[in-house]
Amino acid sequence: MSERPARCRLVVLISGRGSNMLALADACARDLPADIVAVISNEPGAAGLASAAERGLKTEVVAHRKYPERATFDDALADTIDRYRPDLVVMAGFMRIVTPPFIKRYLGRMLNIHPSLLPDYPGLNTHARALADQRTRHGATVHFVTDTLDGGPRIAAASVTVVGTDDADTLAARVLEREHELLPSVVGWFATGRLTMRDELAWLDGQPLNTPFDLDADPAA
Ligand code: GRF
Repeated sequence: MSERPARCRLVVLISGRGSNMLALADACARDLPADIVAVISNEPGAAGLASAAERGLKTEVVAHRKYPERATFDDALADTIDRYRPDLVVMAGFMRIVTPPFIKRYLGRMLNIHPSLLPDYPGLNTHARALADQRTRHGATVHFVTDTLDGGPRIAAASVTVVGTDDADTLAARVLEREHELLPSVVGWFATGRLTMRDELAWLDGQPLNTPFDLDADPAA
């Protein structure tokens, strides 16, 4: 029997458009045993804040520019997050590097979605870098957040074929579509108690994910 409450409380961190957050909100409304209890942005002008509010989701801004130091911003962010008592914190296009104490506080219950097939291309400009390397496959990965940037235990990935006519924008758009499937799937596993982090690995249904689950191998998972 799962030890989790019937519905998993999600706090989603964003910095911009928020399309992954909206995909998650759709999935919660449809069939995920989870609710977005707050959407928090470090950018006051993030378009995703308005979209979230339109959906009736609670929104918060913790503007990093108001904090002279990373650590004080992270403390303020954590205080805001904790007011919502989340079971899971989801970084969905959250463009801030956070400090080790913040990471420790949410270890094993904080996910990030990254637009590359990790471990390839951590950091920025992933689509352009994949194109420059003439990759034939590219995609997105969801992982637990640890101290290594985009380097925590990988959970699942979804990929697309890179075609000759692709530029960074067309490739990003196709990867984003896959992200909108990938993130709700992984959050669903966590919400139903199937996914945990232990021994620096992600575990799904009691099995260590030495390589990330390939969403394309079983799209219905
Ligand atoms: C996504 O590509 C995500 O993987 C990356 O930033 C982008 C955010 O897009 N971390 P959105 O704000 O969810 O639309």
